[in-house]
Amino acid sequence: MTEREHLWSGRFGSSPAEAFERLNASIPFDVRLAPYDIRGSMAHARMLGETGIVTPEESRELVRGLEAVLAELEAKGFSWTLADEDVHTAVERRLRELIGDVALKLHTGRSRNDQVALDLHLFARDAAEEIRDGLLAAMRALVEVAEAHRDLVLPGYTHLQRAQPILLSHHLLAHFEAYRRDLRRFEAARSAANVSPLGAAALGGTPHPVDPAFTAADLEMEPFANSLDAVSDRDFALDLLYACSVLGIHLSRMGEEWVLWTSSEFGFAVLDDAYSSGSSIMPQKKNPDAYELMRGKAGRLIGDLNALLITLKGLPSGYSKDLQEDKEPLFDAVDTVLAMLAVLPEMLRTARFDGRRMADAAGGFALATELADFLAMRGVPFREAHHAVGRLVRRCEKLGISLEEVPDEELAAAHPALAELPRERLTPEGSVTNKRSDGSTSPASVAAQLRRAHEFLDRTERRTEG
Ligand code: ARG
Repeated sequence: MTEREHLWSGRFGSSPAEAFERLNASIPFDVRLAPYDIRGSMAHARMLGETGIVTPEESRELVRGLEAVLAELEAKGFSWTLADEDVHTAVERRLRELIGDVALKLHTGRSRNDQVALDLHLFARDAAEEIRDGLLAAMRALVEVAEAHRDLVLPGYTHLQRAQPILLSHHLLAHFEAYRRDLRRFEAARSAANVSPLGAAALGGTPHPVDPAFTAADLEMEPFANSLDAVSDRDFALDLLYACSVLGIHLSRMGEEWVLWTSSEFGFAVLDDAYSSGSSIMPQKKNPDAYELMRGKAGRLIGDLNALLITLKGLPSGYSKDLQEDKEPLFDAVDTVLAMLAVLPEMLRTARFDGRRMADAAGGFALATELADFLAMRGVPFREAHHAVGRLVRRCEKLGISLEEVPDEELAAAHPALAELPRERLTPEGSVTNKRSDGSTSPASVAAQLRRAHEFLDRTERRTEG
């Protein structure tokens, strides 16, 4: 076998057309898997020695050679050409250049089909861990900001119409809960990725006495159960893409809120200059680009998930070249999520809130439910209470006053029981403090939520370190 020949050239009379070579090659993007490919090959080489498929000396030579290739890669000295076709071939080619013909034994009992699957499993495992850590950092920031602004109220919205006053910390902790579910999804994606397909060979196993459990243990993975499934399965990549998509949706929904909050119309929050950008024409502009991008990138993440779902749909069991299309969407989704998570913690910590603007918006008719609940608690059937307060709101609109400004006689006219209403109840602060139910926006409930959030983060971060 000479240097420039393709892996499979034995069977072919001529070399591939250049245009086909360009279409066929994955090396321009799968070179990113090189560290995983080398790591997997080391485990495989050790297994080959352990099982007597190659001699102990050959096994050591292979591992040492792979260490040298890894060192070159880390020193950015690893070069490839299109003729390498893919990362697996490029690594093997370099190995042979470094250690000679013993390199030709590395591929015994292995196929690129189990090899590429392993590389992607290893990549997905790392990526799931990295995203989980980034997410934890964002959740920590969210809790800190919620803690730092415990007494700020803002309107909660339904239909984007002011609905009822809620605590800002309650609002921020709502997102915390969504991210907590994301965290679980990334942990599940990590364990789905943590399976080694090595030893499945092309699809049906191998006559060589390989030891898939040995290789798996070397990589701190579980071994596969069925060789055909091992080379066909990309569910773990779908799991990770799904987790990225749902996180993307959560980031997008939060992003949309910040875009609103930082507008002049809302004026609830101001982003630090370090996380805003300006306009090339309108000197006054300060734009919330990072949050807009969080909104925008959700579409791309969903696209990445869709791309792989559609690639897999209808593929027969076993390896088909279509599976080469699994990599770019996965890389793109992971990079996209990590880029957003890198920005989020400090962007949250450095934002300022306008408590006055928020409280002003949280008063007025947003307090109407408070009045209806007050009546209902005095025995007025809720429907009747709702109706009476609805009439009062209409009356206020006519008088051009807010609910806080209603004179006592108007209150009594709306319903006699309203004459006893303690006026402090008719404020955003009074409204949130009056809430009783578990998980509500009352300061007591939010304090408990904050405590539990801290405990969760401490526990989870300790587990990560341990
Ligand atoms: N570049 C290929 C991929 O990404 C590697 C596996 C090739 N296997 C094969 N039988 N042609 O999927």
